[in-house]
Amino acid sequence: MRIDIITVSPELIQSPFEHSILKRAIQKGLAEVHFHNLRDFANNSYQKIDDYQFGGGAGMVLMIEPIDKCIAQLKAERTYDEVIYMTPDAPILNQKTANTLSLKENILILCGHYKGVDQRVRDHYVTKEISIGDYVLSGGELGAAVLCDSVIRLIPGVLGDETSALTDSFQDGLLAPPVYTRPSEYKGHAVPEILLSGNFPKIDEWRTQKAYERTKNIKPELFDD
Ligand code: ADE
Repeated sequence: MRIDIITVSPELIQSPFEHSILKRAIQKGLAEVHFHNLRDFANNSYQKIDDYQFGGGAGMVLMIEPIDKCIAQLKAERTYDEVIYMTPDAPILNQKTANTLSLKENILILCGHYKGVDQRVRDHYVTKEISIGDYVLSGGELGAAVLCDSVIRLIPGVLGDETSALTDSFQDGLLAPPVYTRPSEYKGHAVPEILLSGNFPKIDEWRTQKAYERTKNIKPELFDD
């Protein structure tokens, strides 16, 4: 999978791709991530990419022209399955969206900034809008990093143990059951006995029950789907 990210702050988003699972996915050639500084597409020597909004009002708006130029250059090189705009006024990212996107070949992500982008970009260039939650961030970069992490880890071959993505929370519509490791007792706090029993059918049963309990207590809305 190739991901292109258009941003006004490349430094803000690069670091998550230089560590851990994302780094390994890139090293293995399973994911390719490219950053594009919107200022490089500004139509002026002082790299202006935003302007005041028509009609008045606080906050600057990213202009259509540099975005058009950047997207046109990228689209001349390949076809994108989705052009995603990161913005708080959009459907919230969930595991289903991450699963769907993990099967795509080329994704282009546009990070908003300031008051956002000129609406014409959203109307005519963007194919999908994603929020990472009902709160406002300073820009779309952190959201894009979250989105990329959730997607890249699902690409087959990225996780060493293929089953570990399958047993993640949400993957089967439930929250994950609790997990424990050594020591089996610490300061009087014991691990549930069943997990030490070696009875794997019973352990599976216990985990399923805990997953249901957790989902019911913490996110009962998952049962609505
Ligand atoms: N940009 C600003 N806030 C955001 C959010 N909550 N999700 C995605 N992009 C954003």
